[in-house]
Amino acid sequence: MRNYPPALLEEWMRLYYFAVDADIGSSGVSDHSLAEVRALAGITVEEMDAVVFHDSQTLGGTGVRSAIARRWAAGDASRVMVTHGSTEAIFLVMNALLDAGDEVVVLDPVYPGLGDVVRGMGCRLVPWRLRPDDGWRPDPDALAALVTDRTRMIVVNFPHNPTGTTLTVEEQDALVAVAERAGAWLLWDGAFADLTYDTAPLPDPGLRYARAVSLGTLSKGFGLPGLRVGWCLADPAVLDRMARVRDYLTLHLSPLVELIAERVVDAADRILGPRRAAARRNRQTVDAWMARQDGLIRWTLPAGGVCGFPRLEVPDVEAFCHALAREQRVLLVPGTCFGWPGHARLGFGGAPDVLRDGLDRLAGALRAAAPALV
Ligand SMILES: Cc1ncc(COP(=O)(O)O)c(C=O)c1O
Repeated sequence: MRNYPPALLEEWMRLYYFAVDADIGSSGVSDHSLAEVRALAGITVEEMDAVVFHDSQTLGGTGVRSAIARRWAAGDASRVMVTHGSTEAIFLVMNALLDAGDEVVVLDPVYPGLGDVVRGMGCRLVPWRLRPDDGWRPDPDALAALVTDRTRMIVVNFPHNPTGTTLTVEEQDALVAVAERAGAWLLWDGAFADLTYDTAPLPDPGLRYARAVSLGTLSKGFGLPGLRVGWCLADPAVLDRMARVRDYLTLHLSPLVELIAERVVDAADRILGPRRAAARRNRQTVDAWMARQDGLIRWTLPAGGVCGFPRLEVPDVEAFCHALAREQRVLLVPGTCFGWPGHARLGFGGAPDVLRDGLDRLAGALRAAAPALV
């Protein structure tokens, strides 16, 4: 019997995503229009008109699987499954590989979808805690102390939502070694893989560990969340188990979506580059703004991704975020959606003018909510 907890982050977005002027809470970059994507990826109207809406294949059409394999899976398309966003991939992987009662080590804080599906399946969660006092730095030795031969899966996401922390290549090696020693599945959610600022993107751990399962998406750095395309890279036997779950859920993607996704992946650097450069500038804007807030809000500069997880010096962060959305029309995500009530997720991937406007309104609201501290 499944008992999925409410998806608090999604509920928050349902309340406010469409009801604010300034979104400084989401974890994506500025979204592309179809015209922009067609121009960047060189897709003609004739090519789109030629699409026939037959069924596609369960693991994805040949073209899009090959494009993903060329960029992220050393050319091996047999290791690629294309999914409806990485959200579907998370659900399929967990249902394919885990059973109620399994012990699963999960980062804390973590993108809620990664913990809540496992929790709802009746697995036993062991939190791998990141600490704000350590600048959220993940410590592979702390992970090693949590993993035993009962550990069935280790679930991680780097660069990390919501804190923006990430691993060095050496730390990623240490993480893979911990999983390997225990023979545990390693679920590597690389939703923000291409959004790093000071280091190169981390390699896919599946290239060296057979029980690694990696996820990717066009929703974050590519600015295409509404296209609903993600993927899973795994051993073909794992993909086969996932396909058996998909047969009852979504069957396959649309051939039109697959055409766009294939061409987007082929043009990845052209599409990612400008968004990453804008996010890098925005990150500096937020960092300079933080320094002017008299300690009412503090963050650790994110190393990757487009969000950070500052602490707010207000009496009730969730109530503050409700009022911020309703009265100031600014979207910030309260840490309660991640199980961390004193914090909030701040996203800096959007348009610079919207970000500045949102930060101005947030600064005013912080001062009004915490007058004793100023
Ligand atoms: C770490 C992480 N994984 C997965 C997802 C799901 O995204 P999508 O289904 O749009 O690919 C998100 C979205 O915020 C995320 O932050």
